[in-house]
Amino acid sequence: MQKKPIIELRDVWKTYRMEQTEVNALRGVSFAINEDEFVSIQGPSGSGKSTLMHLVGCLDLPTKGQVLLDGHDISKLKESALATIRGKRIGFVFQAFNLIPTLTAMENVMLPMIFNNVSRWQREKTAAELLDDMGLKDRMHHKPNQMSGGEQQRVAIARALSNDPEVILADEPTGNLDSNTGKHIMDLIMHLSTVHKKTIIMVTHDPYIASFAKKKIVIVDGEVGHDHEYLKRILWKNGTHHGGKK
Ligand SMILES: Nc1ncnc2c1ncn2[C@@H]1O[C@H](COP(=O)(O)OP(=O)(O)OP(=O)(O)O)[C@@H](O)[C@H]1O
Ligand SMILES: [Mg+2]
Repeated sequence: MQKKPIIELRDVWKTYRMEQTEVNALRGVSFAINEDEFVSIQGPSGSGKSTLMHLVGCLDLPTKGQVLLDGHDISKLKESALATIRGKRIGFVFQAFNLIPTLTAMENVMLPMIFNNVSRWQREKTAAELLDDMGLKDRMHHKPNQMSGGEQQRVAIARALSNDPEVILADEPTGNLDSNTGKHIMDLIMHLSTVHKKTIIMVTHDPYIASFAKKKIVIVDGEVGHDHEYLKRILWKNGTHHGGKK
């Protein structure tokens, strides 16, 4: 049976308007991601990767075009419906961990469950299990500044999983980590993909980190391609590739 796309972008444009200027961060992006796919998004700085993640994560709406989740156009949804999707169906992992500094590891992981009306007892149980799974049994009562970068990122992954979302969005999850710690985080992300069957979209600059994903999307100047032929075309277009025919 053919899998159905969980996320689909159709000719998506995102224009940021400033006082004097406009930035076309995305220029007609289209692709589909199926349930339990593991997709990497690669591209140079400023190419539109985080913008894309914000749209897929229902944190922002496109200027033009459609972002479909399970076939529903998110721009047609009310803010309350978008908040529910963000809270229940999507887990975010960021480069800078984004943990709340005054809360312990346990409290950080428990937090998203409050918004889903999970009882305190159940929140504590789930958070303890997730932190244990991440190898952080002995760090549950530590605050972020009392943990290493790799430990903080594991807390962030546990937090992203707290509401058992179908989709994990990871924006440079290993960007602030040394290569060994980064590899460990990638093993955990691979486990979420292969064992827990989560749909994963991961932004990275690093081709090695991208190689963990089954499908690769490359984005250059707000335009997307799925393979290196696309990159070559972009280089041709910009006149940075010399020799051969135009
Ligand atoms: N809120 C905003 N207002 C105006 N311009 C923005 C805004 N956010 C991003 N941009 C611009 O849009 C373009 C794409 O930005 P984006 O953050 O998506 O890039 P990126 O691919 O994630 O880059 P990096 O690898 O450096 O994180 C950039 O030129 C950026 O300056
Ligand atoms: Mg970015």
